[in-house]
Amino acid sequence: MDPKRVLEIDRRHLWHPYTQMKDYEDRHPPVITRARGLKLYAADGREFYDTISSWWCNLHGHLHPALNQALIEQLQRLEHVNFAGFTHPYAAEVVERLLRFLPPELSRFFFSDNGSTAVEVALKMAFQFWQNLGETRRTRFLALREAYHGDTLGAVSVGGVDLFFRLYRPLTFEALRAPAPYCYRCPENPKHRFTLEASEPSCGLSCLSALEEILSAHAEELCAVIVEPRLLAAGGMLVYPAEYLRGLRELCDRYRVLLIFDEVATGFGRTGYMFAFESAGVVPDLLCLSKGLTAGYLPLALTVTTEEVFQAFYADWREGKTFYHGHTFTANPLACAVAAANLRLFEEERPLEKGRKVREFFHRRLRELFSERPYVGDIRYLGYVGALELVRDRETAEPFPAERRLGFQIYMASLEEGLVLRPLGDVIYWFLPLCVTEEELEDILTRSLRVIDRVVKENLR
Ligand SMILES: Cc1ncc(COP(=O)(O)O)c(C=O)c1O
Repeated sequence: MDPKRVLEIDRRHLWHPYTQMKDYEDRHPPVITRARGLKLYAADGREFYDTISSWWCNLHGHLHPALNQALIEQLQRLEHVNFAGFTHPYAAEVVERLLRFLPPELSRFFFSDNGSTAVEVALKMAFQFWQNLGETRRTRFLALREAYHGDTLGAVSVGGVDLFFRLYRPLTFEALRAPAPYCYRCPENPKHRFTLEASEPSCGLSCLSALEEILSAHAEELCAVIVEPRLLAAGGMLVYPAEYLRGLRELCDRYRVLLIFDEVATGFGRTGYMFAFESAGVVPDLLCLSKGLTAGYLPLALTVTTEEVFQAFYADWREGKTFYHGHTFTANPLACAVAAANLRLFEEERPLEKGRKVREFFHRRLRELFSERPYVGDIRYLGYVGALELVRDRETAEPFPAERRLGFQIYMASLEEGLVLRPLGDVIYWFLPLCVTEEELEDILTRSLRVIDRVVKENLR
């Protein structure tokens, strides 16, 4: 189709996610027709580094030959079958391979088809687990402020990003909320030191104590605590210490509350660990996976849990303990074939071991390029994720006025530099695939610096 026609249809009929369409009144989005490796190619000849890995799902670059091949081969065999009452080798292979990466406690796999549904499944499972056990008072969830778990209403109920969710509160159930481990703006960090990797907390984890207060006061009515381990992604790429997760696991054990880790964004190597929770040496009761499960090829998700949770549902049909939940595209064979090929790549090519030096380079260059910039309040990073929180006053951490839409301006300017710096407010981040090289990183960061410097300077005038 002629790109002009694409834009005509886009303007007249399409409605893009997380987009104020009026922002496109006098501009248009790039028409992407091809991609390869780290690059997106537009119909008008422009190229962009896909610096956010296709909304955080791409892992090995676009159009990886092994993943393409797996999908082509699967198209000769089976494209879809009802997973209620049938099974297939493609789902079984995903499970067999994932079991090699997961701790033995996580041994039951429930498929669905996107991150939000993986979370919905975890919430409903946690809720019904206690109902099935007869502990019917346990109906509530504890979540973090600044958390993001998806856009369906259960996920919104446990979400904490006010900008996205405030309006929908009357439609959701009321979760208990603990303060987020937001190290940069923590009262224990009055000088606003950089978070970096949050590897050695020099604080007393007062955020965890605040959570414990809520947990102890409400333990008997709680079914589960849900968190994104080590990185609150959509909440602003907030990196927090592994100690927090260890403390949280202990608290959940002490108060007999299930623990859900949402690794939809962090799973499959993005943090430098196959799963972010490995960095803390703890295991959740329920684990939500999607995005990187198919390396960003097709929608697929998993909620993984323990035999103990599963056994609470395993009963004579008459007992009414069945988990009545499912989606049309549950365990879609095309998606499963790509997911299996993705896991094969992890085993055969060991990208995380190979990428250690690249990750160190990324973090070092972030510090070198940005730590002296007066507008950079915080630098934080974990694995292939890096973020800058831009502020008007570094000493007080005072933000730029929201009306300026600084992050949005930087995003628009980044497209001119061949980058995709999609912001979260005034947090600018990179969410890179595991295949990124030092040369690509250097080019991406140099361009980023140029864009950010220019836009901030224009706004300080
Ligand atoms: C941590 C987390 N959970 C859940 C979701 C929702 O995933 P999806 O967009 O596939 O519904 C996201 C999406 O960004 C996420 O970052």
